[in-house]
Amino acid sequence: MPGFELWGAEERKEVNDVLETGILMRYGFDGPRKGIWKSKELEKAICETFGARYAQLTSSGTSALTTAMAALGIGAGDEIIMPSFTFVASFEAVLSVGAIPVLVDIDESLTLDPEAVRSAITHKTKCIMPVHMCGAMANLEALQDICNEHDFILLEDACQSIGASYKGKYVGTIGDAGTFSFDFVKTITCGEGGVVMTNNESVYKRSDEYSDHGHDHLGADRGADLHPYLGYNFRISELHAAVGLAQIRKLKKFLDIQKKNHEALKKILAQIPEITFRTIPDPAGDSCTFISWFLPTEEITRAVVAEMKAQNILGGNFYWYDNNWHYIRKWDHLKESASLNAFAPELKQSLIENANKDFTPSDAIMSRCISTSISLLWTEQQIQEKGEKMANVIKKILNESTVKRN
Ligand SMILES: Cc1ncc(COP(=O)(O)O)c(C=O)c1O
Repeated sequence: MPGFELWGAEERKEVNDVLETGILMRYGFDGPRKGIWKSKELEKAICETFGARYAQLTSSGTSALTTAMAALGIGAGDEIIMPSFTFVASFEAVLSVGAIPVLVDIDESLTLDPEAVRSAITHKTKCIMPVHMCGAMANLEALQDICNEHDFILLEDACQSIGASYKGKYVGTIGDAGTFSFDFVKTITCGEGGVVMTNNESVYKRSDEYSDHGHDHLGADRGADLHPYLGYNFRISELHAAVGLAQIRKLKKFLDIQKKNHEALKKILAQIPEITFRTIPDPAGDSCTFISWFLPTEEITRAVVAEMKAQNILGGNFYWYDNNWHYIRKWDHLKESASLNAFAPELKQSLIENANKDFTPSDAIMSRCISTSISLLWTEQQIQEKGEKMANVIKKILNESTVKRN
């Protein structure tokens, strides 16, 4: 997810505009800022690029999720159904509004299995939160159907999938709200930053207010703003927004390169019949930040990872099953509800029950999955060499496992 790989004069120019005025804050200081409003400009560009009616920038993808949940009225006692494979931020945001993360199994789309979602519904369910992992999308039609049947909120965590689309619409703009992260390793980056997108005016207005201490932003005098409700400081700075503005103008170029490089590498891996690939509900909408592929067994997958490490070619290949950030298996802090501040007793109990469920179907998928990140900087020759080295390792391990079996 490499926006930072193509960094240059465009980003510096936008940041310098802000440095010249010295107004680093997104609100107020109308005179001295001399018409420089990078955050507003980036919000407009996000709406135009992705087709969302409204966009509210925040300080991070995590705070965008928290803001969206608060703006959607999700709070104490509400259950949010979400996948067992995501980044820790997804459940952190749920907990930050006092709601309960109900983790459920994924399928080979690497995100929510609609049947697992149906089985997890209770009278407390308020929201379904698919996470569009590793650049591609969840089965949004099936999930939207469940939401429509039960009048649930659909909140898309699209933090990892900027530029992916589903049936002609960008992910993050399809549910009641959606979020992107612009942290340093995302498809386009602000350094740190995030956005809430929605087509609902009141969700937008609440996001705008909540992410700035509840300020109503109605007058020209910030000091005279009223506070219709409590909020927090999840503001983005003008410096970060300036970087994002330069990056969003390059998004199409980034996506075109990703798609080309993804296709070239996939062609090499696809020659090995034992490899299968992640299910993509709308292949044309894959943003192609990663290729996620499966081997026949956990044992073979572990051997391939070990051999790639031994040959010093593991960089950029992720075995999420052993990763501390992305999969339930390693989230001991969540399973133990290890928080610095005390949780309400009911929340703590529900959290522990939910995080310690059996995730055998997810294990069966994640233990065989490797995701290879796609670089914008690769040359055709480098892709060929990388692909061949990977393919040689995979074939070697597959051969050894056949010999062992016989
Ligand atoms: C799926 C997902 N959700 C949320 C986030 C949080 O974004 P941020 O790092 O901007 O807080 C991330 C970041 O990696 C993510 O991958």
